[in-house]
Amino acid sequence: MRWGKGMRKPALLLTLALLTSTMDAKTRVTRKSFGHTPDGTAVDVYTLDDGKIEVRITNYGGIIVSLRVPDKNGKLDDIVLGHDSVEGYIPNSPYLGAIIGRYGNRIAHGSFQLDGKTYVLPKNNGENTLHGGVRGFDQKVWTAKEIRDGIELRYLSKDGEEGFPGNLAVTVNYTLTESALRIEYSATTDKDTVLNLTNHSYFNLAGQGNGDILGHFVKIDASRFTPVDVGLIPTGDLQPVEGTPFDFRTPHAIGERIGANDPQLQAGRGYDHNFVLDHATGQMQEAAQAYDAKTGRTVKVLTTEPGVQFYTGNFLDGSITGKEGRVYKHRYAFCFETQHFPDSPNHPSFPSTELKPRQKYHTVTVFEFGVRAH
Ligand code: GLA
Repeated sequence: MRWGKGMRKPALLLTLALLTSTMDAKTRVTRKSFGHTPDGTAVDVYTLDDGKIEVRITNYGGIIVSLRVPDKNGKLDDIVLGHDSVEGYIPNSPYLGAIIGRYGNRIAHGSFQLDGKTYVLPKNNGENTLHGGVRGFDQKVWTAKEIRDGIELRYLSKDGEEGFPGNLAVTVNYTLTESALRIEYSATTDKDTVLNLTNHSYFNLAGQGNGDILGHFVKIDASRFTPVDVGLIPTGDLQPVEGTPFDFRTPHAIGERIGANDPQLQAGRGYDHNFVLDHATGQMQEAAQAYDAKTGRTVKVLTTEPGVQFYTGNFLDGSITGKEGRVYKHRYAFCFETQHFPDSPNHPSFPSTELKPRQKYHTVTVFEFGVRAH
């Protein structure tokens, strides 16, 4: 390239900066079509490849469609549940791989109060509102653009959408470097509102559709969890995990105690609970890990969030056929949904999920993938 004689200094500096940033970027980002939504909107799928692992993300729902990582012998396999094209996710999917908003998990009776006003939300889970309502962020087409090592997704949730107050401008950045997938969530509002964003990836470290996850070992850095009622709404207590099947402070196989005669496991039909992270400071901290002995694959979760919903695919029942014709049966995957606690707007003692104008919502979660020889 030849520098034009008349090129002004700022333009030259900008060109240099752009060149350097592309040269520095370790991850290759490519885009192709992922099909159309029922109203004819075209959606894309972006491939992020850092030379070690490869993740594909669509701007429909910000869904992580596939995640190919090596096992202990270097064999790549796709370790998240999903579909081959956007049509598979429509009309509904149990949130496979999606961004969840405005409010991750449940809000009791579809209602909460804010600044003395009662807000009424659509109930889409028995008496309660789950994962943002009837049409949450998981079913929206986001505006996507390529950034260094990944993509940026933007969505403007209008005042009153699914009953929530305030125009909410949301940005989610997915970047991939050194076998770590980083998800950075930001948002601003023009009215007081509540907000709890997460990602709902279903992991099976042995490969998607390749058996259940009961043999996976899990560790969660939480001395307490939020027990729930039969509708999976927190009672408001923070119950110690000590002496219960919820003690994952040292690694345990998921299946070891999942069938125990425990009222909380019965309420959740297995694990479907929010764990209260021990070192929640708002700074990035280790939250959880999982390990599959057969393949040696590991995932470590770091987050700025105070909680993680550990869900063991209890509602999967074989009715979904996903990628490569794989059938997703009972407990064929687990989720680590980093978050604020479910139903926080109705529990003043829980960490607040309120966002006010001029405040900036900003949370980060990182999934680090690796292998262990034994
Ligand atoms: C979350 C909830 C579960 C279930 C799944 C999606 O993990 O806590 O109860 O709704 O999402 O099926």
